Amino acid sequence: MSNAPAAVAAHYNDKVVRQFAIMTVVWGIVGMLVGVFIAAELTWPELGMGIPWLSYGRLRPLHTNAVIFAFGGCALFATSYYVVQRTGQVRLFAPKLAAFTFWGWQAVIVAAAISLPLGYTRAKEYAELEWPIGVLITLVWVSYAIVFFGTVGTRRVRHIYVANWFYGGFILAVALLHLVNGAVIPVSFMKSYSVYAGVQDAMVQWWYGHNAVGFFLTAGFLGMMYYFIPKQAERPVYSYRLSIVHFWALIFTYMWAGPHHLHYTALPDWAQSLGMVFSLILLAPSWGGMINGIMTLSGAWYKLRDDPILKFLIVALSFYGMSTFEGPMMSIKTVNALSHYTDWTIGHVHSGALGWVGLISIGSLYHLIPRLFGQTRMYSVKAIELHFWISTVGIVLYIAAMWIAGVMQGLMWRALNPDGTLVYTFVESVKATFPFYVIRLIGGLLYLSGMLVMAWNTVMTVRAGRPQPVRIPSMAATA
Ligand code: HEM
Ligand code: HEM
Repeated sequence: MSNAPAAVAAHYNDKVVRQFAIMTVVWGIVGMLVGVFIAAELTWPELGMGIPWLSYGRLRPLHTNAVIFAFGGCALFATSYYVVQRTGQVRLFAPKLAAFTFWGWQAVIVAAAISLPLGYTRAKEYAELEWPIGVLITLVWVSYAIVFFGTVGTRRVRHIYVANWFYGGFILAVALLHLVNGAVIPVSFMKSYSVYAGVQDAMVQWWYGHNAVGFFLTAGFLGMMYYFIPKQAERPVYSYRLSIVHFWALIFTYMWAGPHHLHYTALPDWAQSLGMVFSLILLAPSWGGMINGIMTLSGAWYKLRDDPILKFLIVALSFYGMSTFEGPMMSIKTVNALSHYTDWTIGHVHSGALGWVGLISIGSLYHLIPRLFGQTRMYSVKAIELHFWISTVGIVLYIAAMWIAGVMQGLMWRALNPDGTLVYTFVESVKATFPFYVIRLIGGLLYLSGMLVMAWNTVMTVRAGRPQPVRIPSMAATA
């Protein structure tokens, strides 16, 4: 009898990890290119040349969908499939379904890239895609849950490593959010209406929107942090006990903070205050987790000097700390009265998005990609170092410009003459913002250039190596 299936089963399934890892780089470049284009459109509005599918309103959701769901999503799929196999010492459950998640997710992204510029939208931020695409997302996500939890269920190690708790929490929460906020009545092939109305619709949307931040842009990436920082630093997690407290405190608190997006609206005042209080509480688990990640380097700080991958991972955590301090402050009603509608929000978003989500994904991929192609390190470590510095300078330019612009706009809009009339017209605030839009554009261009350096380094690494099957340690004796 042939022992071929046993031999296959003795190796990790890394094909799907490789596919998602490569597509993370590709979609990162696409999404950020669109980001740079819309940043340029805000600076010079005539850039769209009147062509509807190049208009800012259509390309902005394309940017957010591409960076969050295509770039961030592929990074989460790649790393979760890698981590759950390594920490459970088992091959991925249901390999055909895993392959379906790859092709299905790429189909969702392509459908988004076509339908959004054409103007099809549900007009709900981060949930713009029309119902047929929503159905496909559901199929892919259920398959993802089966593959991930099936792998956890068939693991050969008794303990479930904490990174898997974060990935698992992210998968379950996103399923719930998508189903509840995606409830619609279709009226034609690409048009539907939300089943909720008025302020209830707004509340459901921002319960979704905030938890998209908490689970899609945070919990899954914390899973990455808990695996890749200890691996790259070759140290155990600073406090494993704290990581468990971090998990439960974070997922419990995030769910209640959504109303901070609806301050001073028709939402009942008590609900707004509830959102504010839970946002303030969120500071504690967020900083607990950040400190846990950073302190993992205790006794190994010297490694930061010449390991650019660690630099990516640790600076990502610093930005995580920064944005999770800023967020609770912005959720205070009186602060929000100044920050809402201004570019301060955009600065906050990108300190989280470019600083935390972007850098932790990039650092994790630099650890992952060589190992997926039978190499010990990337083709050029110097290029990683270069990437680190270009992107860090890019982020600083981007967020500093937006912070200054945001506070300035807020102050200009509320400045009153003694007779109660406005000191500034709106257009004066737009004119005053112009130089900051140019600086943001330069920051964005730098960040995008860093991704192009990464793409070159990835191509060279892939060309120099070749995928090697990796044996599952605990099966070595049996296979
Ligand atoms: C080259 C890098 C990037 C550039 C130049 C860029 C640029 C922009 C611009 C111009 C906007 C619209 C701002 C406005 O409406 O006033 C925006 C929105 C947004 N971007 Fe980016 N972006 C970049 C990368 C990213 C990444 C990597 C992520 C996520 C991982 C991200 C997430 C978002 C989100 C969530 C919004 C919507 C913010 C809101 O509605 O408040 N961006 N971006
Ligand atoms: C303790 C953690 C956090 C809290 C309490 C928080 C709070 C807030 C607040 C109050 C706003 C402004 C809402 C408004 O005026 O409309 C906001 C916007 C936003 N935050 Fe955070 N934030 C946190 C962390 C993060 C992180 C880590 C990220 C990204 C990875 C992020 C992404 C966003 C996005 C995308 C928006 C814009 C939403 C929109 O209007 O489209 N936040 N956040």
